[in-house]
Amino acid sequence: MSLSDPALAAARAVDEPRLWRRLMDMAEIGATAKGGVNRQALSAEDAAARRLMATWAAELGLQASTDAIGNLFLRRPGREAAAAVLTGSHLDSQPTGGKFDGAYGVLAGLEALEAIAAAGIETRRPLEVVAWTNEEGSRFQPGVMGSGVFSGHMKLDAMLDVTDGQGKNVRDALESFLAATPEVAARDATAAPAAYIEAHIEQGPLLERDGKTIGVVQGVQGLRWFAIEVIGEAAHAGTTPLAERRDALKAAAQMVGALEAAMADESDRVRFTVGRFEVAPNSPNTVPARVLFTIDFRHPEQAVIDALCGRVEPVCQANARGCEVRVTQTSDEAPALFHAPVVDTVRGAAQALELPHRDIMSGAGHDAMNLVALCPTGMIFVPCAGGVSHNEAEAATPADLAAGTRVLAAALVELANS
Ligand code: GLV
Ligand code: MN
Ligand code: MN
Repeated sequence: MSLSDPALAAARAVDEPRLWRRLMDMAEIGATAKGGVNRQALSAEDAAARRLMATWAAELGLQASTDAIGNLFLRRPGREAAAAVLTGSHLDSQPTGGKFDGAYGVLAGLEALEAIAAAGIETRRPLEVVAWTNEEGSRFQPGVMGSGVFSGHMKLDAMLDVTDGQGKNVRDALESFLAATPEVAARDATAAPAAYIEAHIEQGPLLERDGKTIGVVQGVQGLRWFAIEVIGEAAHAGTTPLAERRDALKAAAQMVGALEAAMADESDRVRFTVGRFEVAPNSPNTVPARVLFTIDFRHPEQAVIDALCGRVEPVCQANARGCEVRVTQTSDEAPALFHAPVVDTVRGAAQALELPHRDIMSGAGHDAMNLVALCPTGMIFVPCAGGVSHNEAEAATPADLAAGTRVLAAALVELANS
């Protein structure tokens, strides 16, 4: 596939130092001592990131708007009032997250729009950059919340009622978040985008291992999350006979072991993680009265997700050791397959720009999963060092990040002129 002259000009106008500078400026917000970021959804740091985006948008003359779940949209008008081509990702991070997971896709979008403007290109359709609210889901579950509400996959009212570990709900947290950008207008419910394309670091080792710069993403495996509450009874550690205890921690530990065995998979495609484990009262000499733990389950096939996730509740109940067990499903994202018009445009742009590329499936979840039901959707991956992500040591090179942005800029022009 050859690129049109405007797409080629846009790709060439991508400015690697400018992109890197913005990434490093963004990484100062919530910076951790180990070189990562802690910018959890709807926190003061997340609000500061939003403020910085709105400031950059104003400098670039982009029209900013927001919807009821706090997604931030930055628009560059097209020649026609047609549906926009949308690009972006998220600015929130894991508690010990890296500089690039999410922020790259948003800032690559901004850089692409600046490059398109610098190259003097007008597109037929408008272009929009979006920063989705709460992609990570580490503070408020589920993740991919902003894109979930935007797509209709999640109900706004139910999401506004979601609480964090401190009992604060999304509705209240959004108030101070939105107050960071008072100049940003509320946006009415809008028509579906004409297409959606998201740039992201791979968060896995395949591109680096293969010596490829660009991942042409085919789709994203499905995921389900659970919160398991185990309720036992506090008791004195020195006096209470073992047989008379209802020990929530020993029950929860036994559940995790039994679940690990139930999820065994020789093909090594199952991803089963217990990432949170809270014990109360968490005292050395009191029998634990309550445990809360989480399950993150992923697989590319819906049938396997249904079958293995169907075992979560019975396995937990079978290992309750006299405790009460409450299993709540907190997330459900079906495996997503991206659409040929966007996937082929990404591959064609990588080819035309002579960037080494390969097709790839995403193991990580992304907002793009929610867009699949709305419009032609695709993603662009670039390598990250050692495949390390959800880790403060996450790293990517300025050259690879700029290469992904060149592919993005070219693809946006092609899609917005089609
Ligand atoms: C997103 O960060 C995910 O959990 O895949
Ligand atoms: Mn991400
Ligand atoms: Mn992430």
